[in-house]
Amino acid sequence: MARGSAFLGSEVAILCGAMSWVSERNLVAAVSNAGGFGLIACGAMTPELLDREIAATKALTDKPFGVNLITMHPALFDLIEVCNRHGVGHVVLAGGLPPTGSIDAIKANGAKLICFAPALSLAKKLIRSGVDALVVEGMEAGGHIGPVSTSVLAQEILPEVADKVPVFVAGGIGRGEGIAAYLDMGAAGVQLGTRFVCATESIAHANFKKAFLRASARDAVASVQIDPRLPVIPVRALKNAGGDLFTAKQREVAQLLDSGQVEMAEAQLQIEHYWAGALRRAVIDGDVEHGSLMAGQSVGMVTKEEPVAEIIALLMTEAAAALEQRAA
Ligand SMILES: Cc1cc2nc3c(=O)[nH]c(=O)nc-3n(C[C@H](O)[C@H](O)[C@H](O)COP(=O)(O)O)c2cc1C
Repeated sequence: MARGSAFLGSEVAILCGAMSWVSERNLVAAVSNAGGFGLIACGAMTPELLDREIAATKALTDKPFGVNLITMHPALFDLIEVCNRHGVGHVVLAGGLPPTGSIDAIKANGAKLICFAPALSLAKKLIRSGVDALVVEGMEAGGHIGPVSTSVLAQEILPEVADKVPVFVAGGIGRGEGIAAYLDMGAAGVQLGTRFVCATESIAHANFKKAFLRASARDAVASVQIDPRLPVIPVRALKNAGGDLFTAKQREVAQLLDSGQVEMAEAQLQIEHYWAGALRRAVIDGDVEHGSLMAGQSVGMVTKEEPVAEIIALLMTEAAAALEQRAA
């Protein structure tokens, strides 16, 4: 982990992946204070809100933390400017390839840029473009996912690029043994999201945390697209009434399309907008029936509410024991 820790400036190379509404000042500061690396989830925040969130996080920790920006945010360059003004050391760009000019804008002030690599070819392209580190995230993860599992992506990508830039593996990691396995394969560190949702310091609603504590791996399912004309971006979340209604909604919209009652663009928009505001409804308002319960398959390994420091300490103990056993 030394390489990952040196890159992040943290004690251990465990990133707490940005989670919209969950990864705000309290969780981010707690992770960084505990020796890990916290990331603010900017999500749809305005530059003013991000400005306030970074300042508030700085008030809670003097340890390094980063900011996760979504590439399609309409004010991406203003958000980058806010990060630069605050001297944020690490920016994660999620949601697709970095738009023209964004890499230079982020690195202009000396910040390190971390991007998601969903395939080996893209990993190589990102490195050629000047990206400083990669996150390789498989479909076991919570939230928006690609089609390939963590274990396959790690085998495809780590042997080819782990000697060029630090690579952090994400998706489906719930215990230290999993961390040890990816370090063994050449990862510089790991990124976990689901495992941190029920941290004492996480502001997620008690209902949201309860849903996590009750769930097992098979409850964290990927959203299903039922009509090829109506694209659905795959999201892994706990099964609930909202998910069932989403399937019904897709059927209803497909029928309206068949009967010519709606145009294609309007139909696609209805599907796209179905989940708008749904993560906030679940995380903040506690509506676990109709909100979005984004969670990864590692949710079954989340068994109690506990302080971030204890989660990180346990992960490290498990990882160290696994590596020692191998060396013996
Ligand atoms: C509730 C929730 C919200 C998330 N929101 C985001 C987000 O806003 N941006 C992002 O890049 N990743 C997001 N993720 C993915 C995490 O940052 C992280 O990469 C992922 O959780 C790692 O896999 P794991 O859930 O198996 O630990 C989210 C994950 C969860 C569980």
